[in-house]
Amino acid sequence: MRTAEKLLNDLKNLQKEVEDKLGITEDQKDLENIHIEFLGKKGKLTSILKALGSVSGEERGKIGKIANELKATLENSIDQRRGDLRKQYYEKLKDTEWFDATVLPPRFPAGFHFGETAGHIHPISAMQKKLEDIFTSMGFSIMDGPQIETDYHNFGALNFTEDHPAREMQDTFYTTSEHLLRTHTSAVQIRGMRKLTPPMRMIVPGRVFRYEEIDASHEHTFYQMEGMLIDRYVSVSNLLHLMHTLLGEIFQKQVEVRLRPGYFPFVEPGFELDMKCLICGGKGCPVCKQSGWSEVLPCGLVHPNVIKSGGLDPEKWQGAAFGLGLNRLVMMWYGIEDIRYFQNPDPEFLYQF
Ligand code: DAH
Repeated sequence: MRTAEKLLNDLKNLQKEVEDKLGITEDQKDLENIHIEFLGKKGKLTSILKALGSVSGEERGKIGKIANELKATLENSIDQRRGDLRKQYYEKLKDTEWFDATVLPPRFPAGFHFGETAGHIHPISAMQKKLEDIFTSMGFSIMDGPQIETDYHNFGALNFTEDHPAREMQDTFYTTSEHLLRTHTSAVQIRGMRKLTPPMRMIVPGRVFRYEEIDASHEHTFYQMEGMLIDRYVSVSNLLHLMHTLLGEIFQKQVEVRLRPGYFPFVEPGFELDMKCLICGGKGCPVCKQSGWSEVLPCGLVHPNVIKSGGLDPEKWQGAAFGLGLNRLVMMWYGIEDIRYFQNPDPEFLYQF
């Protein structure tokens, strides 16, 4: 038989073989195996196509086309069978299992009845509430802002110029060329300055997003709380005192802090405020990356350009701002070693709190 004829024959046999097998599979797993065996990268169809090299140009085109059509047809049949099997599976479940919506999940305590409080607050929400209580008692208002922000509020107005390299400090999900998923709650600074009359103090709790490679300490979605105060005179020692008091309130003990210079375009001077690691007490552990210190509070005095963007006169008004990472705080509080738990829907994680 000529090679071309043999190839056509092989394709026909292959089609028959697949169809026969599909007719008798009763199992999703078998189905996936059929897919791999015949249509996978190293499957039978691919090996037939490899032999195409030895037939003449015109025939090669024709057979190639037939093979591609066959591939599409078979993909389709497999999909269809997959759908049928799934339907059968659910039909069978309906007959064999019944669902009682009033049965309590296994973790509820014995003697529990509906109407009593079930479930509990997520640890991040609990931390947020705790901070809100601390801050409102110090005269701060709570502000909110959109999660889909303008580039202007997230960057431009905060003194990140168009081609500012600091924009790359925060990898960003853009939704259009002018809109993005806010990378920090600092984006609400401008809205706050424009809405509240100075002197003012505000906090902004909320969800933020970064285009991040995910690992034990990086997530694409996490929670922050921005803080800002504007007054006639604000100094670094005011800022430090506030941060120190705040951390003492949160952790309910004297905490040791240290200040390092840090660069953020919207503050000048800017700082990284570290706290002695509560998990290891400063000896070094995986959570503090063996340094004994944990970066908890980047902060600084508000840059005059930002005061201006907020519609205020920088000759008249000064400000301080800080950003709290809520996930980080909860991790320190409970000794949680992996940030990915927070987005994981596994209730076993939540039952612990
Ligand atoms: N927005 C910064 C971030 O997410 C954190 C931050 C740094 C906020 C310094 C501030 C600040 O208010 O002053 O990385």
